[in-house]
Amino acid sequence: MAQGIHVLGILLSLFFGQAISLKIATSLQWIEYTPQPYAIKNFYKGTDTATLSSGGVANLATDSSLDLAANAETQGLKQYASHKNLRLIYVIVEVGYRMVANQAAGITKIGDLKGKRIGTMQGTSASYFVNKLLGSANLKSSDYTIVSGSVCMKTPCGSGTFPSMITGKKIDAFGIWEPAVELGAKSLGSSAVIFQNVSIYREVYSLYSTTEKLNNIATRKNIVAYVKALNQTLDVFRNRPESVYATVGGNVGVDASVVQAVWPVHKWSGTIPSDLVDFLVVEDAYLAQSDKRAVTSKADLTKFIDSSVIADAQRI
Ligand SMILES: *[C@@H]1O[C@H](CO)[C@@H](O)[C@H](O)[C@H]1NC(C)=O
Ligand SMILES: *[C@@H]1O[C@H](CO)[C@@H](O)[C@H](O)[C@H]1NC(C)=O
Repeated sequence: MAQGIHVLGILLSLFFGQAISLKIATSLQWIEYTPQPYAIKNFYKGTDTATLSSGGVANLATDSSLDLAANAETQGLKQYASHKNLRLIYVIVEVGYRMVANQAAGITKIGDLKGKRIGTMQGTSASYFVNKLLGSANLKSSDYTIVSGSVCMKTPCGSGTFPSMITGKKIDAFGIWEPAVELGAKSLGSSAVIFQNVSIYREVYSLYSTTEKLNNIATRKNIVAYVKALNQTLDVFRNRPESVYATVGGNVGVDASVVQAVWPVHKWSGTIPSDLVDFLVVEDAYLAQSDKRAVTSKADLTKFIDSSVIADAQRI
């Protein structure tokens, strides 16, 4: 009898669509993540709830209860090197990282950063950005000193945060995700110089899943629904940003006026950029060296990108 009920349950769930929830690991601190709670609240139409938990693609690689993760492409590449079942299925936002430098330290162009102390976080998309930006002026990593510190989301920025370190002259420049650069530039005032060049580097903040999850029909249906909801959200983020500054700021503890100030740095794209494979090949070569591992082949990096979920979302 119990077995009969179980079979009936399966048949009913097949008929009505299985009520399975979606679990997503993501940083809950950065502006990049904020389309996700908005999508869940306003647009998501999966068979059950979608839940965000603190984490990222590293968790997705090792915890099979997770269906999705969001992270910069840097963390995606680091994990893909040893977890070839990961797939990059969607790009939420491309962020043109910025570096702020103190003109009072004699810096007006990138080349002036030779011999200077530069704040960033090692092993992240930001340290890759710093390496690329300074490399564009032929500066090698031995030409400058990297100093670690923390970000600041809201003034007053505590000691140990980059904005506080630059005004206190402990560092001469720093490059990191927003809004710390904006807050650092504000606190330096007229002495601030900003360097940004999206053709040298932009963060490609992406959504990831695994081949196992994507091959599971019921889970895939919810993943497609999630991407669809994100796409509807990005429409709002792009076209009616004034309606979300306060919500986004509330999600991550940033003043709405600061969210507005850094909004142009964020390109809420929702598409897989055409140069993505080549972009990943170059970054993976850098990461392979710093992580002391073999490079991932271009053929494997091509497999890493799966645009079929976007195609499915366009059909519903
Ligand atoms: C950005 O970088 C590209 C490639 O190095 C370079 O050709 C271009 O002049 C740079 N743009 C700016 C505004 O510095
Ligand atoms: C996203 O929305 C746009 C309209 O804003 C539509 O053209 C596009 O097909 C949608 N993409 C997906 C993946 O749903």
